[in-house]
Amino acid sequence: MTDKPSKKINLFDCATSQNIIGRGKIMAALEKVLEHGAYCQGPETKELDQKLAEYSGTKYCSTCGSGTDALTLALMAWDVKAGDAVFVSSFTFVSSAEAPVLLGATPIFVDSKPDTYNMDPEDLKRAIAEVKKEGKLNLKAVIPVDIFGSPCELNEIIKIAHENGMKVLSDSCQSYGSVYYGKKAGSIADMSATSFYPTKPLAGYGDGGAVFTNSNEENELVKSCRVHGMSPDDHYDNVRLGMTGRMNSFQAAVILQKLTVFDKELEDRYRIAKRYDSELSPYFGKQRILDNCRSAYALYTINCEHRDELMAYLKEAGIPCGAYYPRPVNTQTAYKKWNTRSVPVCEKLSKTVLSIPMHPYIEEDEQSYIIETMNKFADKYSAKAA
Ligand SMILES: Cc1ncc(COP(=O)(O)O)c(C=O)c1O
Repeated sequence: MTDKPSKKINLFDCATSQNIIGRGKIMAALEKVLEHGAYCQGPETKELDQKLAEYSGTKYCSTCGSGTDALTLALMAWDVKAGDAVFVSSFTFVSSAEAPVLLGATPIFVDSKPDTYNMDPEDLKRAIAEVKKEGKLNLKAVIPVDIFGSPCELNEIIKIAHENGMKVLSDSCQSYGSVYYGKKAGSIADMSATSFYPTKPLAGYGDGGAVFTNSNEENELVKSCRVHGMSPDDHYDNVRLGMTGRMNSFQAAVILQKLTVFDKELEDRYRIAKRYDSELSPYFGKQRILDNCRSAYALYTINCEHRDELMAYLKEAGIPCGAYYPRPVNTQTAYKKWNTRSVPVCEKLSKTVLSIPMHPYIEEDEQSYIIETMNKFADKYSAKAA
């Protein structure tokens, strides 16, 4: 058995990349912002818009203040409002549903598949049929989520949405860098939103986000909504409602530096995930990644019937872990009034999932210790069940 590593094991690692990139390079990039003084949407944000669009293979990218802003701005560009139905994954971080609700729309929660944890296209069809039958809401948009960085069944979801006259906003907040049938996250749905929150695969040192689209018209609307609905011709004429959604130039300067090591970091996440896949006991259920796809592994998440015992055991062994997410959004207090559909798979997942350390800088001996410690738990509980 591998000894417990002397260094603390981290669930995420938001700091080591500073040493890999070089503190000096990051400080120099920040100094530049201090020198030019364009702190909001300065030259760094424009360069980042361009580099991210190139990276994901989209025509346009507009950086903004956070992933939540990105989701909200995309929906604002589509004029989502009261009376609109927006179909959204329930097994997700709250923002996926918060964005449509902030605009007055009605979230219709959709169940997940038990193996991918992502939106179930069959349940989406059922939810659409129910809303149509009731005839009270206008079918507007679908927000599927690539949970934990793993691509959802976007082709199927886009087909269903388009057949019903709806657009698809991909919540790629956890999956920037993932690949779906050869295409990068951000480039597949009608619009996509991502987050650069410090625990995300492409992480800033603070909040940040971006909206992706191939439509110039949509991109112009996002850019306008990002600054209070400003007209491109007259900055003191606000022609629609918007918000303060800008990215600050310091954050863009950091993310530009982080982009230089992003592919290497993704490879390292992938390598560690593959080791977990092959060496963790089959007692643990593992998130199924779709064929021809690659997860960005924002998190590595297993499921286990004895999740709470496993959590306590890992904490005791010095292995950090987290239950993402312990409550589907539809059951959370602020969202209960929209808890109109049964989502049994999401409810079960919320009781059994557990995320274990996942970041590019987990040492070999830490990986071995995590795997061996977890497998000991699996042996004990498998024997109990036998
Ligand atoms: C699936 C999902 N959607 C949206 C968000 C919101 O991103 P942000 O925290 O940058 O607003 C997050 C971030 O945690 C997320 O995980």
